[in-house]
Amino acid sequence: MTVNFLVTRAIPEPGMSLLRTAGTVTVPEDLLDSSALNDACRSGDYQIVVAHLSDRFDEDILQHARIGGISNYAVGVNNIDIDSATRRSIMVANTPGVLLTEATADVAMLLLLAVARRCVEADQFLRDGRFTGWQPELLLGHGVGGKRLGLAGFGRIARATARRALAFGMEVVFCPRPPNAGDARRTDLGELGGLVTQIDWYELLETSDYVSLHVPLTTSTTHLVDVEALTRMKSTAILINTSRGPVVDEGALVEALRQGWIAGAGLDVFEHEPAVTPGLVDLPNTVLLPHVGSATVPVRNEMARLCALNAIAMGSNETPPHPVNPEAW
Ligand code: GLV
Ligand code: GLV
Repeated sequence: MTVNFLVTRAIPEPGMSLLRTAGTVTVPEDLLDSSALNDACRSGDYQIVVAHLSDRFDEDILQHARIGGISNYAVGVNNIDIDSATRRSIMVANTPGVLLTEATADVAMLLLLAVARRCVEADQFLRDGRFTGWQPELLLGHGVGGKRLGLAGFGRIARATARRALAFGMEVVFCPRPPNAGDARRTDLGELGGLVTQIDWYELLETSDYVSLHVPLTTSTTHLVDVEALTRMKSTAILINTSRGPVVDEGALVEALRQGWIAGAGLDVFEHEPAVTPGLVDLPNTVLLPHVGSATVPVRNEMARLCALNAIAMGSNETPPHPVNPEAW
């Protein structure tokens, strides 16, 4: 029996070719809104959906869906209600490749350096024709070496960010599952043993010069960085977010940056993406990127390959290489 894949929006090569060798591939001409996605999932025409972060699989859609699996073209799966999918025996798979991990850590470091050294502001200054020669106090920024980086979360991307920060001479501390203070059981540090230190969430907020967010979006991490967290941070601190927008209360962040509760922010993700909270773009001490953490040619190709392999395995009733809820089947 041939497998029917619904691909909500074409993925890069080699993804589409791999899928086509394994079954019948349907790519709708127009992007599916939630009612069209609902209809497609209920139709019984497709066994596997290859989906994107913009496709929202909530309880309403999943409860009637006659599909066996969702292969998400992303490492994050916050667009899918995983508990509901599991209850309906719908397997979900994601694309946590090593290239994605490294590329996203690169963007965390890029934002950290760009905010610290006022890179966007300085570039604009030059383009505006205002550069009249070297000056002793032109566009002075924040130091990086010797400063403390606090990592919220300690998964693959946080660890890759830690390795980079250590190479820049930073002191690295982390809290594995904020806002929980920590675990009785200590985190396995692997190759970072002796180089990074686990501390509790409030101590991390209060003592870090840079705070970088690397948590998945869940109910307990939504607005992890709220008014309280922002007021605990040092007034010289810089916040970096490459995880998910809603981890930060963006209204509170605008206030914090305006009032000088913290010194700056570098964001690749936004609470109401693609909308950006009013005020954020007017602040000179922010660097704002349009969710490009994994946006390199090799990463997107690798993600496409993993995404296709996940879909193909699920299409043959096999557990995919990167299952999110293996208990679904
Ligand atoms: C991108 O944000 C991803 O989750 O892959
Ligand atoms: C994402 O894959 C992470 O572990 O940070």
